Amino acid sequence: MSLLESRYLGLPLKSPLAASSSPLTDSVDGICRLEDHGLAAVVLPSLFEEQLELESVGLQADLSRGSNGFAEAASFLPELATYNLGPDHYLELIRRARERVEIPVIASLNGTSPGGWLDYARLIEQAGASALELNLYAIETDPLRTGVEIETRQRDMVRMVREAVSVPLSVKLSPFYSSIANVGCGLDDAGAQGLVMFNRFYQPDFDIVEREVVNTLALSHPSELLVRLHWTAILSGRVRADLAITGGVHEAEDVVKCVMAGARVAFMASALLKHGTGHARRVLAELADWLDEHEYASVEQMCGCMGYTAVPNPAAF
Ligand SMILES: Cc1cc2nc3c(=O)[nH]c(=O)nc-3n(C[C@H](O)[C@H](O)[C@H](O)COP(=O)(O)O)c2cc1C
Repeated sequence: MSLLESRYLGLPLKSPLAASSSPLTDSVDGICRLEDHGLAAVVLPSLFEEQLELESVGLQADLSRGSNGFAEAASFLPELATYNLGPDHYLELIRRARERVEIPVIASLNGTSPGGWLDYARLIEQAGASALELNLYAIETDPLRTGVEIETRQRDMVRMVREAVSVPLSVKLSPFYSSIANVGCGLDDAGAQGLVMFNRFYQPDFDIVEREVVNTLALSHPSELLVRLHWTAILSGRVRADLAITGGVHEAEDVVKCVMAGARVAFMASALLKHGTGHARRVLAELADWLDEHEYASVEQMCGCMGYTAVPNPAAF
């Protein structure tokens, strides 16, 4: 086994560094570029339930508005005008990407209620996706809906998708639960083979002169990694599902921390958008040097060494 190899959702990976959903994974050429630069897997942009129900989705508009709100985002996100074009385009993207690259191509579905989109999970499987990530991104604004209801519905959905398809299934979850550990274990029981921590929510800002809510889209900061490391470490060794981190992974040391916390994959989006896909090569070279210097025989050996069940003093968590 080579120094950097990892395994996620039963899929062999040449390293623990992969690309999460972003405009970089929205075209076959983009995916090929990511593979060329050493990324071990890609997650496609999410297909949203609303897109499948043919309602107006607003995502495109939100993203475009966001990119205007931030000079930074505007310059790094030139491809937003064609981002996330809908169901037919999506299946075609999966098919063509699978023909062109050897790395796993993970599709992503965003759904919050059982519905026709379950059938879509089957179509995604038939199109040849290596795995499916269920993105549980939802902003619950109804004060009458309880946390228990929401969490039960999410678990039921994972169970239904698990029964509908046989491709490996991961769930990208939110950091906003009363008990992330309990939610993680529940999703694990429901059949999720991977838990991806965490979704990064678009945070509406206020235009205080026009008194309008402004959607913003900013790239992440490395400090966002900490909450993810914390909860990954807490779940490490306590769920069957493979753990993965997305959010704040920018440098090789961030990848080391993710793996030590117990993640089999560290996903990257913002750093690749900011520095270009070539950044992955530098990170991987530095990761290999780091392992060598600190006498780790493999990523596998390091995985989970800072997890809850591995550290001498779990109370530190
Ligand atoms: C422009 C843009 C588009 C994104 N689109 C999606 C998406 O469609 N589905 C999804 O699950 N995450 C999406 N994300 C979130 C990323 O996949 C990732 O989880 C998040 O940016 C945190 O990782 P980072 O700190 O490496 O950026 C998007 C992020 C960006 C910046």
